[in-house]
Amino acid sequence: MASSRAFTIFVLLLIAPFPQFQGQATTILHFKSFSPFSTALETLQKQLGYSFKNIGLLRRAVTHASFSEENNKALSILGANVIEASVSFRSLSKDIDVSSKELNHQLSQISNVESSCAVDGMRLALHKVVRVSPKTNSSVPAVVCSAFRAIFGAVAIDDGKSDAAGDIFWTFHRGRELGNVLPL
Ligand SMILES: *[C@@H]1O[C@H](CO)[C@@H](O)[C@H](O)[C@H]1NC(C)=O
Repeated sequence: MASSRAFTIFVLLLIAPFPQFQGQATTILHFKSFSPFSTALETLQKQLGYSFKNIGLLRRAVTHASFSEENNKALSILGANVIEASVSFRSLSKDIDVSSKELNHQLSQISNVESSCAVDGMRLALHKVVRVSPKTNSSVPAVVCSAFRAIFGAVAIDDGKSDAAGDIFWTFHRGRELGNVLPL
């Protein structure tokens, strides 16, 4: 991170005497240099075991509404539904006689912001990745949780269907419950 900044400064000093190249070089650096944010997006994809065709979707998923108009609010609604569908599907596949009460109980557990969603999100270190306004605390459960859910919405849109998104959620969530350590 610090080294990429140092590299950028180094290149800018190098081209300082050649104003005709500056605009171009700055543009190239902007896309080529590995900013902490783009590195974090790479790490996230590895943790999830999913590679985005459109990385813009993942970028949006980890952008809180306080940061920009282009944010994760709607994606997190889709993500919450993907998660609920995945849990319902698994529960009924395992036991078709599961009661509505039991299923609702499972869904309310999985949907709990503090005890489930934000904990899963912290496990992915989303509080360090999510883009928020300077006044917003990126560690509060609601912020971490919306980014966490939005990631599964983003996977579903990227993949054109929700199956992979549900599977990734399930694998990740179960992994956390079973205490598996993710390769970071
Ligand atoms: C940010 O939120 C977290 C979680 O609620 C809290 O522990 C922390 O103290 C907050 N930080 C600040 C600077 O308010």
